[in-house]
Amino acid sequence: MFPREVVSALKSRQTPYYYYDLDLLRATLEEIQKTGLSRGYHIHFALKANHQKRILKVIREYGLGADCVSGGEVAQAIKCGFDPKDVVFAGVGKSDQEIELGLKEGIDCFNVESKQELSVINELAAEHGKTARVALRLNPNVDADTHRYITTGLKENKFGINQEDLDEVLELIPKFDHIELVGIHFHIGSQIQKLEPFRELCHRANELSNYIEDKGFNLPVINVGGGFGIDYKAPTSNPIPDFEHFFALFEEHLQLKDHQELHFELGRSVVGQCGSLITKVLYTKSGREKNFAIVDAGMTELIRPALYQASHGIDVLEPGEEKATYDVVGPVCESSDTFRTDVEIPKVERGDLIAIRSAGAYGEVMRSGYNLRTAFPSLYSDDIRG
Ligand code: LLP
Repeated sequence: MFPREVVSALKSRQTPYYYYDLDLLRATLEEIQKTGLSRGYHIHFALKANHQKRILKVIREYGLGADCVSGGEVAQAIKCGFDPKDVVFAGVGKSDQEIELGLKEGIDCFNVESKQELSVINELAAEHGKTARVALRLNPNVDADTHRYITTGLKENKFGINQEDLDEVLELIPKFDHIELVGIHFHIGSQIQKLEPFRELCHRANELSNYIEDKGFNLPVINVGGGFGIDYKAPTSNPIPDFEHFFALFEEHLQLKDHQELHFELGRSVVGQCGSLITKVLYTKSGREKNFAIVDAGMTELIRPALYQASHGIDVLEPGEEKATYDVVGPVCESSDTFRTDVEIPKVERGDLIAIRSAGAYGEVMRSGYNLRTAFPSLYSDDIRG
């Protein structure tokens, strides 16, 4: 799992905190370069998965752009060195101030989710003497076969423009002088483990791209979003997702025309496995039916288990031979503050360190201030070797 020098560095710090293995992040990005960028695909990193400066700097060095969902993320991406021309701005509820920030910075594209939003962007762009490049986020009604909270491409989800409204939106576009339609955008959900939903997405994207271009529009950008899953069960033996199969599927099934480029917005698959939440066992207690390991990190540091019933691997940093079965729980005053139930791990005692794995995506960014708990600074592998 972690080499000895890493364990000793991890032991020397105040817990709980996030540890990022930047070598794994680099290896993941090299694989993305080899299998995705080399096919000519444009890949934007979804900052919503992780917006730490150190992480973003590495990602930018490998030639990815930034996919943002708030003014804060747009500002962070630009601050961390992303060229505004490589920044796209998505989200179902962009405020006027956020749109103005995007216009002022000259970002590449707004992914637009409704008729009304299109009209507001047109008005604001007119006020600022600009033309906004937009892609229409279309709801393809494809089932991503993932947790219902992170399914986004079904008709009943709040995201995107439904098929019924598409014609009306297309009729409006030529009337908006400050909008340039550059493409279509999809995102069907997150932590998608099978490739089938993506194949279905390709077919819908082909149909919709043809339908819109047949009406006389030009769509140079086809953006298929993100959603590619990671292996939460085996982070050590399977740390890098199978990007070759993922990108090859799009190469095979998405009918790109000569004037079109394919864009992706990957979050979890880029950073998920490089982060761990490091936490200390505060207490152990045994009830009649359960052993509890009470650790100093809680749902305030990693909310995924409480919110999505997510199961993250738990590694004891200096394991002994003996095993025991625990509910690994946090200190927050909520029963949902449980990382794992009935998990067999090496026996732990007060003071032992635990790594909660696969926490690089939607971990630190979803931290909350609930219970006014203290957040300690992250540690990066680059700083260990000095
Ligand atoms: N593009 C859009 C429009 C999105 O909404 C998302 C994620 C992404 C790209 C990146 O998706 P990824 O490649 O990371 O799957 N907090 C949840 C995940 C929420 C995902 C929201 N949208 C979790 O912890 O599982």
